[in-house]
Amino acid sequence: MTKEHDLSFDDFDEAVNPRPEGCDFDDVVEEALSRRGFLGGVLAMGGFAALGGAVLPTRAKAAGNRFAFDAVAASTEDGIVVPKGYKAEIVMRWADAMWSDSVAFDQDTRGTAETQARTFGDNTDGMEIFLHEGRTLMTVNNEYTNRKIIWGNREDGKFANADDVEKGMLAHGVSVVEVAHDGTGWGIVIDSPFNRRITPQTEMALTGPAAGHDLLKTAADPSGTKTFGTWNNCGSGKTPWGTYLACEENFNGYFSAADENHEVTAELKRYGVSASDWGYGWATIDERFDVSKTPNEPNRAGYVVEIDPRDPNSTPKKRTALGRFKHENAECVVNNDGRLVIYMGDDERGEFLYRYVSNGTYAAGVDTDELMENGTLYAAKFDASGKGTWLALTPDNTGMTQAEICIHTRIAASKMGATTMDRPEWVTANPNSDEVYCALTNNKNRGKKTNAGGDETPVGGPNPREANKYGQIVRWKPVDGDHAADGFDWDLYVLAGNPTVHQDDRAGSDNVNKGNMFNSPDGLAFDSNGLLWIQTDGKYSNADDFAGQGNNQMLAGDPVTGEIRRFLVGPNEAEVTGLCWSGDRRTMFVGIQHPGEKGDSHWPDGGNTVPRSAIIAVTREDGGLVG
Ligand code: FEO
Ligand code: CA
Ligand code: CA
Repeated sequence: MTKEHDLSFDDFDEAVNPRPEGCDFDDVVEEALSRRGFLGGVLAMGGFAALGGAVLPTRAKAAGNRFAFDAVAASTEDGIVVPKGYKAEIVMRWADAMWSDSVAFDQDTRGTAETQARTFGDNTDGMEIFLHEGRTLMTVNNEYTNRKIIWGNREDGKFANADDVEKGMLAHGVSVVEVAHDGTGWGIVIDSPFNRRITPQTEMALTGPAAGHDLLKTAADPSGTKTFGTWNNCGSGKTPWGTYLACEENFNGYFSAADENHEVTAELKRYGVSASDWGYGWATIDERFDVSKTPNEPNRAGYVVEIDPRDPNSTPKKRTALGRFKHENAECVVNNDGRLVIYMGDDERGEFLYRYVSNGTYAAGVDTDELMENGTLYAAKFDASGKGTWLALTPDNTGMTQAEICIHTRIAASKMGATTMDRPEWVTANPNSDEVYCALTNNKNRGKKTNAGGDETPVGGPNPREANKYGQIVRWKPVDGDHAADGFDWDLYVLAGNPTVHQDDRAGSDNVNKGNMFNSPDGLAFDSNGLLWIQTDGKYSNADDFAGQGNNQMLAGDPVTGEIRRFLVGPNEAEVTGLCWSGDRRTMFVGIQHPGEKGDSHWPDGGNTVPRSAIIAVTREDGGLVG
């Protein structure tokens, strides 16, 4: 059945699969007491100081910084705010034309399935730039749709017929779009031979250790190797050989059963699949989304999908070796010994941080197809002293087959006792140093409830605050700079908070102040200069715990001094997500997702227009470099 509600993905999962109150009270108290020690020890003294590495965050310095801009103030305006000397312009919006036969966006009907199939998808998220034959190919995730926006032409904001459902479906997926600067601004190259929409209906291959396993077989695909489509692609990744990685996140919210009492297996429950979908209605037009009829279909989603943007006829590959969970992004690093290392977060309360290490090594001309097929998955375990270990998810360690590890990755990591995290979002590696950062966006269940697998979520280590409202960024250095090593040293780069409202640990770490405060870090990316860009997907009420923080925003952080400075503020009720740069580094492309998700925005077109997710180009007025 399809449910009508306004819950977030996480809240909806929890509503249909309530978590037990699982944490032992004594553990919580003990961890809370040791937390002071941790914050004083790791943040102020510095886990890395002992390594002779980066200096830890201290209060922001006014001078001698690496920022090429003056901080902007928090804002609640329905527009984009950038620093003086910078400008922001629209590159493409939801339902913009990609071909000359595309139909222009209709403000009244908001399009049809047919028009959506030939236009840019909705809710822009992770994106990467590929330079190919002198062209700039932007590859972008279209994560999901907001029902009240895409079906805002219906009085009740719900789909009214099969075409409405399919319009929503086709607004999902990935868009490959050639973009160019025509002298006045960036825009879509209409009819480029590289333009492509990849949707939940596009044929894809299931590859790697789980391909062909019984759990992946359906009546329509008895081989367990051929599937259709990708959806809810959140963050992205880019391989060293120039392909795009689209990461399937909240894939579960699209499955339902006609019988609302239908019970799914414990394994599907762990991934939040239930008899109720999230309001999309896909099972009403395609039986594979009815989990009572096609119970293995959800096992065919939740992967990292490799797409070659330079070949519009290529078949995307779901790389099962990279595990199945609510993938946020996929950060690729070529290790010193040539092995491919991919860091990945599983964005749900109390889920885990993962790493994949290839067996083979990358070098120009090698068979790259094999590098994301044969390797080992690991889940991170953090201890309270600033050390951590990668736990190998192998058949020997877990008692599961390699295929089962790739399909039920969360269960394998639970068996190994990995650390339950505060919703791991994007991971990014510093190009100038062997260190890696991950945004832990927030977790209201920390210290209160178990994760969906019943694992406890004690307060402590990199998740130091109970019922964490603001989030933090954890970073780690692999031992000896070896990204394939088992050990690492970690600390917190920042604890977000609100120092105007709170005086305890909810005020945030020393590098948070009234002028740069934010909540819920999500997108993270280093630029070529080694500045860390932080995008937020948090509360924009600008009241109570979030007073003074304004709309969602993008900030830049200096990894060495710890200084954080606000660079951009988004429009009303939007999330800032997705970041990449033009080949000449004179343009920064930034994604603005779901403006007006609750009904209070007309961005980007103003007046009484429908709010539309869009990608903006941020440039310096003097034409200088922006990252
Ligand atoms: Fe789609 Fe975890 O954000
Ligand atoms: Ca995200
Ligand atoms: Ca988020």
